[in-house]
Amino acid sequence: MLVFAHRGASATAPENTLLAFNLAFEQGAQGIEFDTYQHAGGIVVFHDKTLSRTTNGTGALLDTPFDHLRLLDAGQGQKIPTLTETLATLPRDRWCNIEIKHLDNVTKWVREVKQALTAQGINPQRLLISSFNHHWLKAISAQWPEVKIGALTASYELLPFTSAKILRAYSVNIALDIANREFVDAALEAGFKVFVYTVDNDEDMKMLKAWGVTGIFTNVPQRASQILASNQ
Ligand code: G3P
Ligand code: MG
Repeated sequence: MLVFAHRGASATAPENTLLAFNLAFEQGAQGIEFDTYQHAGGIVVFHDKTLSRTTNGTGALLDTPFDHLRLLDAGQGQKIPTLTETLATLPRDRWCNIEIKHLDNVTKWVREVKQALTAQGINPQRLLISSFNHHWLKAISAQWPEVKIGALTASYELLPFTSAKILRAYSVNIALDIANREFVDAALEAGFKVFVYTVDNDEDMKMLKAWGVTGIFTNVPQRASQILASNQ
């Protein structure tokens, strides 16, 4: 089961920062998950719509000029990273999951992501693009058919995996709260990989591994790596 560090090693370093991503890999994570906004100045890595919870700034991220964003302290002297800076932390054999929180120009977004991958020499085979907004994923998939899509969800559809099927998704990424064995079995049976977020508890990690889940997103990648290694 793959261990993805959720927002980096976010239990021990400020979330969605280069410190958290570097630490995640040091702690044995096979991948990182991070949140992104398409800002007028470029794609930036950030979770909230507003700045106050995780930086010393105030107001909405998208209303803040790029140069000002980059002056903010995101904790322990860290800056809000760009996508390119974040991808630069990625060892060649590891995965990354770009979660999209905001997108307004798909063509520009695809171009920027491809350029960032090329600049860092990253193999797109270990890249997963996810979002709760499946319309954005559909638009990306139309322009970039070979990219792996993760249909992120916190709910059960009336007709199982409808979005994932339309998107020809690589995976369904489901909230731990609603994950159950039946869902996991059905998703795997339908040909989808299954990722579960956010899994910080030892017993949940062991249970999901026993269910055959493909990967988890965790704030404690070191703990997860230890638990899974001792539970072969
Ligand atoms: O991608 C899984 C998870 O990160 C989705 O929720 O709010 O932590 O971005 P959130
Ligand atoms: Mg996320």
